[in-house]
Amino acid sequence: MANEILRCNVCHRASNEVRNLIAAPLKQGGEVLICDRCNGEIAEAMEAENRHRQKATVKEEPLRKPREIKAFLDQHVIAQERAKQDVAVAVYNHFKRRDRARAAKIEKAEGVEIQKSNIMLLGPSGTGKTELFRAIARMLKVPFYVADATRLTQAGYVGDDVESMLQGLLQAANGDPEKAQWGIIFIDEFDKLARKSGRGASGYRDVSGEGVQQSLLKLIEGSMVPVPRGMGKGGTVITIGADGTAKPSLDMLDTTNVLFVCAGSFDGIQETVDRRINKSSRLGFGANESTKRKLDLTDVYSAITEEDILDFGIIPELLGRLPVRTSTLPLTDTDMVRVLTEPKHSIIKQFRALFAYDNIDLVFTDDALLEIGRLAKSRPTGARALRSIVEDLLRPYSFDAPSDATIASITVTADVVKGEKAAEVTRRPLIVVTPAEATG
Ligand SMILES: Nc1ncnc2c1ncn2[C@@H]1O[C@H](COP(=O)(O)OP(=O)(O)OP(=O)(O)O)[C@@H](O)[C@H]1O
Ligand SMILES: [Mg+2]
Repeated sequence: MANEILRCNVCHRASNEVRNLIAAPLKQGGEVLICDRCNGEIAEAMEAENRHRQKATVKEEPLRKPREIKAFLDQHVIAQERAKQDVAVAVYNHFKRRDRARAAKIEKAEGVEIQKSNIMLLGPSGTGKTELFRAIARMLKVPFYVADATRLTQAGYVGDDVESMLQGLLQAANGDPEKAQWGIIFIDEFDKLARKSGRGASGYRDVSGEGVQQSLLKLIEGSMVPVPRGMGKGGTVITIGADGTAKPSLDMLDTTNVLFVCAGSFDGIQETVDRRINKSSRLGFGANESTKRKLDLTDVYSAITEEDILDFGIIPELLGRLPVRTSTLPLTDTDMVRVLTEPKHSIIKQFRALFAYDNIDLVFTDDALLEIGRLAKSRPTGARALRSIVEDLLRPYSFDAPSDATIASITVTADVVKGEKAAEVTRRPLIVVTPAEATG
């Protein structure tokens, strides 16, 4: 017995292969041997598991009232008064339910169950749809995941199946399923899932569109979905079963309280709305071609009804699960100017900061800003165009100016924006530095 080799009961390494073996007495008698390495690993795993649990008890942000939510949105999103109000109310009502005790009491007293209010957000490209919800998620400090509907496929086909969105959300929640349960999933380009030929088309299922709409139904309504744990940290947590096989630990993610926002520009819905409105007005007395109302984009997005969305090719079951419907509207050229200058991290502020880094004061005159606004307005990408317009304008200066220490300021006027003049550059006197001083 004297020269029996002692081994770690966990990894089976012999005592001469490890630094030390710790003997822990067992209650039923005898002892268990654990090496320093296994001991360390166990402690680390415990620590990680504890952290995992603790995160669930992180204090929630107190819920702001719709007016306060709107005021917060005003700092980040220009115009879109109607959409900001609608979203503020929907978000308030949704997160109200997070106070489970209070919500349950009220639901019992009133004899109703308050269902979540998933949101359908329509609006032309570059009008602030995504920005609106980025702001909401930042305010509420809830995990936020933006999915691209065009990449989604039905389970079993090449591409991301709809459940991959939950992995994304879990990742945004640092792997914490408790937090993820109250997160926001923003499905962008939602309109691209429309059935190819609208409501009329039937008899075939198209994988890319209607199939995905079908598979979204359960998820949006609320279901338990298994997702691998540890997505946020790169690795997956593995559990060793009684039979010795390793399995990834799964977190069950309940989507009942995940807020789904389905957003899209619904390009082409103009015709549907036009047809409907002009059809109904033709029924009136004296209606003829000349009384046909010409709808602009603002009219169209303000007038969209459930019928129009169904006609566009969204299936009724899915539309029914998106009870809150609101639209962002095209930005006017003065809105564009405000987008350029007002938000906390506005484009102009950012470029001024970039030039300030090289001691250059970058100035845009009011006329110049308006001209940029007009130019952006003439493009189909909404406020998205602003950045590239400003980039293009500054291109000649962004490259050379940093190497020219004499430049004190660069002023962009309307003529510069129109391409008729170069920007006005003022210079400071050159201070000659001797090589000795320069290398200091
Ligand atoms: N109303 C707005 N207020 C402030 N910034 C805006 C507004 N609209 C757009 N922007 C700016 O323009 C860019 C694009 O906006 P956003 O991503 O919200 O557009 P979108 O409506 O989601 O368009 P798309 O349909 O193309 O996805 C963002 O950088 C955002 O900061
Ligand atoms: Mg977007």
